[in-house]
Amino acid sequence: MGIAGATAQLTEPELKLLQALVYQECGMHFDERRSHFLQDRLQRRLKECQLDSFYSYYRLLVSDGGKTEMSLLVENLTVNETSFFRNKSQMELFHKHLLEDLVRRKQARRDFSLRIWSAGCSTGQEPYTLAMLVADTLAYHRLRTPHATETAAPKPLIPSPWKVEIMASDISYSVLRAGQEGTYTDSQMESVDYNYRLRYFDKVAGRYAVKKALKEIVHFDFHNLKTEYLPQRNDVIFCRNVMMYFDEAEQRRLVEKFARCLNPEGYLFVGHAESLLGLTDKFVMVHRNSGTAYQKIEETE
Ligand SMILES: C[S@@+](CC[C@H](N)C(=O)[O-])C[C@H]1O[C@@H](n2cnc3c(N)ncnc32)[C@H](O)[C@@H]1O
Repeated sequence: MGIAGATAQLTEPELKLLQALVYQECGMHFDERRSHFLQDRLQRRLKECQLDSFYSYYRLLVSDGGKTEMSLLVENLTVNETSFFRNKSQMELFHKHLLEDLVRRKQARRDFSLRIWSAGCSTGQEPYTLAMLVADTLAYHRLRTPHATETAAPKPLIPSPWKVEIMASDISYSVLRAGQEGTYTDSQMESVDYNYRLRYFDKVAGRYAVKKALKEIVHFDFHNLKTEYLPQRNDVIFCRNVMMYFDEAEQRRLVEKFARCLNPEGYLFVGHAESLLGLTDKFVMVHRNSGTAYQKIEETE
């Protein structure tokens, strides 16, 4: 049976071929519920490429020169909804409990590095939220344990000897560019309270621009979570509202990769509609005041 389109009919075999290709490329799985969305985006790309059949489009994608079109298609298929301080109870768990605990543990063994990865960061609101919370926590620690050699103001955002790196990755180049630019509209800033706006943003040409010092600790980079080459040695990984677009087999593979990308006893945060239940035995759930995260279990010999 064919599916009517403005310029061409998408047949069931063509749909299956393209579905499989997208899955193989980025792990996104379009089941019956989401198949309409896929068909709509395929129609748009077909028109843009001025091709007259979906089979020709498939041939273009798998050809030697098809890489650019493949990334344009993937870009069209991603859902980039995000916000600052998304899922407040989870952010509270991170800020008030797990981050505190992590900083204390690291300090005790004189390891002053923190590495956090926002995997599927979209336009940057998640990694910048994490950067603000880390900066706050370390500033609070500095107040409680002032460093003997510290000089007077101006104080750096990240107090010495701490080194903080927040890696922000995505499969879509356009959201990475927006994150790197780091300027947001009034409506995007709705969930950012006055205190944070004042300390971490400048008002520039009617938009809120992330201050340079905060930007410096967030590094945006392209990473496809489907691949094996991913950022290693993280203390915390946030991968929220990404796995929900993958099927169970791909979710399982991803969680295994995350376990390998985490430091001992590191934490993994997934979205509120996602769970590791039944996917792995490498993590234990941490739950406080309706915020949930997962801690990596150390393997014993
Ligand atoms: C709904 S947004 C979530 C943003 C943020 N994590 C949050 O919860 O607010 C999902 C993001 O995952 C990205 N994504 C989807 N598949 C991906 C893949 N295979 N590799 C990397 N990023 C991917 C999308 O481009 C999109 O920006």
